[in-house]
Amino acid sequence: MSNSSVQAVLLAAGKSARFNTKKTKLCHIICGQELIAYPAKLLARMHIPTTCIVSHQKEDIIATLACHDIPNISYVDQGEPKGTGHALLTALPSLSAQHVLVMNGDVPLITEELLTLLLEKHIKEEAAASFIISHSFSPSSSGYGRVIKQGESVEIVETKYNPDLSSESGFINAGIYIFKKSFLDNTLPNITPNNESGELYITDLIGAANAQGGRVCTITAPFDSIRGVNTLKDLWAVEHIKRSELITHWMNQGVRFIAAQNVYLDLNVSIENDTVIWPGCILTGNTHIGHGCTIGAYSCITDSTIHDGALIHPHSFILNSIVHQSAEIGPFAKLRLSSVGERTIIGNFVEMNRSSAGARTKAKHLTYLGDTCIGMQANIGAGTITCNYDGVSKHKTVIKDRAMIGSNNALIAPITIGKNAVTGAGSVLTEDVPDNAFSVSRSPQITKDHYSETLRLNTLAKTYLNAPESEPTT
Ligand code: UD1
Ligand code: CA
Repeated sequence: MSNSSVQAVLLAAGKSARFNTKKTKLCHIICGQELIAYPAKLLARMHIPTTCIVSHQKEDIIATLACHDIPNISYVDQGEPKGTGHALLTALPSLSAQHVLVMNGDVPLITEELLTLLLEKHIKEEAAASFIISHSFSPSSSGYGRVIKQGESVEIVETKYNPDLSSESGFINAGIYIFKKSFLDNTLPNITPNNESGELYITDLIGAANAQGGRVCTITAPFDSIRGVNTLKDLWAVEHIKRSELITHWMNQGVRFIAAQNVYLDLNVSIENDTVIWPGCILTGNTHIGHGCTIGAYSCITDSTIHDGALIHPHSFILNSIVHQSAEIGPFAKLRLSSVGERTIIGNFVEMNRSSAGARTKAKHLTYLGDTCIGMQANIGAGTITCNYDGVSKHKTVIKDRAMIGSNNALIAPITIGKNAVTGAGSVLTEDVPDNAFSVSRSPQITKDHYSETLRLNTLAKTYLNAPESEPTT
């Protein structure tokens, strides 16, 4: 079936009152993507031109969707939001297709399969109105509309204003509808507020279609796929479901999650098979993890690429970086805007910032590498610090292939340490070291034989001479 006869209206003008946050719920993030982007991208994937109804924080919603480059989307400002029916009424003059698919903006888990099923049934049965329903054992607590069927009649009643509704009718309204455009033209302008809030409700169109003798169709969907997000608790539940879907997908591709319930995973993370993800990992942004990697417990990896066979020890933090094949990172390492070569080891308490290290290089302990370019097979001694910042500007350090930096060196940038060069432990180096040279810069050691007792007596004498005079005794 072609979707050319269908136009969509995405409702995104509400005030998000139940969220109690300054930011609209529609811009809150679920697995790395804003809530409103889920239905908007789905409609775009289905090639359905979409009119998005905005009002509350409209600039933020429009800017958010602009970042996702959604084709065929336009915006209508609802002004003061006066209910879902009023939102659709505002869009009516701009609609021209034969059928109008209306979606609440806060239903992120709905799938293409369900929308297609609803569309097909609606068109095949020539319905005036069709909508998705679902089972829920306690809909009143979450504020869903309840579907009431009596004989031939069907209507949606909001539980908000009718808390005593019998739980025998276990169907709720998912907030996703398709209407014949001609039905909307004839009926929507005549809908009146039917509740204490004085708002116009889109749900009253279902009863109206039925009362006019029009056909009303429904399809039933699993509750998880139509959950609406009204509160932060709903957001948490929906994100949990989405994350479980993502983890299940990667498990099916051969990725081992030791404790899947403890892993946080974004939509745009991809992982190859035979990789093991330990508990507590947070993998976000556009991150790719190759085949046969181990990602140690409580590691955070964002917008980074980890190539095949890399071993990330626990508590590593990796941001905007590349870790090449079979490299080893951490524990407690921090990489930012950095690149680590094949089989290179960046060990515990090592920080790399805007730096790169070539293949088979080692910086295994307690080191800061800032604005540093290291060649291959170099060895950076424990406690080495590149002093890249003079309080005004950042300066570069270059450490060439097979150079060996002694422990506890301070390399004052800009500085270059040549190929095969060796530096002595404890050096503070301010000048370049040529290829193959040895450089050391530290105070000479003084040793005095049998001097320790003299030193102690000297110290005692100084203490005695400086002591305040005691009171004379009588
Ligand atoms: C709505 C339905 C309810 C259904 C539930 C499913 C109504 C009256 N009730 O309730 O039957 O079970 O969805 O999730 O429709 N919006 C506007 N303009 C407005 C008001 C709301 O654009 O004036 C937008 C909101 O931003 C939101 C969507 O419409 O994206 C739904 O509004 P919301 O207030 O969340 O409706 P519910 O109370 O969840
Ligand atoms: Ca809602």
